[in-house]
Amino acid sequence: MTLDSDCCVPARSEPDRAGRSHGVAAPVVAVGGRIAEWTEPVPLLLDRLLPHRRRWVVELGFGKGRFLLEQARQRPGDGFVGVEVASRYFRLAARRAARRGLDNVLLLRGEALYLLCTHLPRAFADEVHVYFPDPWPKSRHHKRRLFDAESVDLLLGLLRCGGSLYFATDHAEYGDEVEALLREHPGVEVRGPFAAWPDGPRTNYEIKYAREGRQIRRLVVRLRAGARSLLHPAGRRDLLMGPRVSAAER
Ligand SMILES: C[S@@+](CC[C@H](N)C(=O)[O-])C[C@H]1O[C@@H](n2cnc3c(N)ncnc32)[C@H](O)[C@@H]1O
Repeated sequence: MTLDSDCCVPARSEPDRAGRSHGVAAPVVAVGGRIAEWTEPVPLLLDRLLPHRRRWVVELGFGKGRFLLEQARQRPGDGFVGVEVASRYFRLAARRAARRGLDNVLLLRGEALYLLCTHLPRAFADEVHVYFPDPWPKSRHHKRRLFDAESVDLLLGLLRCGGSLYFATDHAEYGDEVEALLREHPGVEVRGPFAAWPDGPRTNYEIKYAREGRQIRRLVVRLRAGARSLLHPAGRRDLLMGPRVSAAER
């Protein structure tokens, strides 16, 4: 990877008005505010990119980066990995990280589930934060939601045992669905919904929605010790397996 502080590499597929690019373009990465296309092997070697970090924090769909960058400033010993599909927000956050001299932030521009499968290691994060993911209210668009029975194990798979997922939404139906989905999961403990976080509004959307008086659902979901191999029952519903093969037959 060549990192160049003056260069912003455009996404390969045509972005929409918000700068989202839905093709499988080579993910763009920013370390310490410097941006480059990622062409090295995956999954990312986070310990090399951001060495000597005590804990790892991931935020998916970080928007303008308010929460991620503020946490990175407050916790210089920890490593922060942000994923955002919209180029415009990604670049804004990368510029802010550079201006603030944050050397503990790694930003990835790309689609979260794709990057989860390809670029991010598994079972490394102490915290995963997902705030106000797009609710895709029309039922024909529900398949685009970040949380569903098939994706939930990918999202939880980022966590080490004992790590926690933090979630918030203002969308009542999506919030109820995510809560029900997580409560059915045998590997996690769900706490909430909470009225507010102890540190106040965390993201731009949260500030905006709180000001508008919208009801916000906030959940904290802990991956239990020893629960790594437990999958959501709805996600594995369609899994088919052939006959067992004994070790001698292999
Ligand atoms: C409603 S905004 C919330 C932004 C921020 N979390 C906040 O609370 O202010 C949703 C964000 O998620 C990003 N996003 C949506 N789908 C995504 C995906 N599949 N992968 C990565 N980012 C995504 C959008 O580009 C947008 O920035």
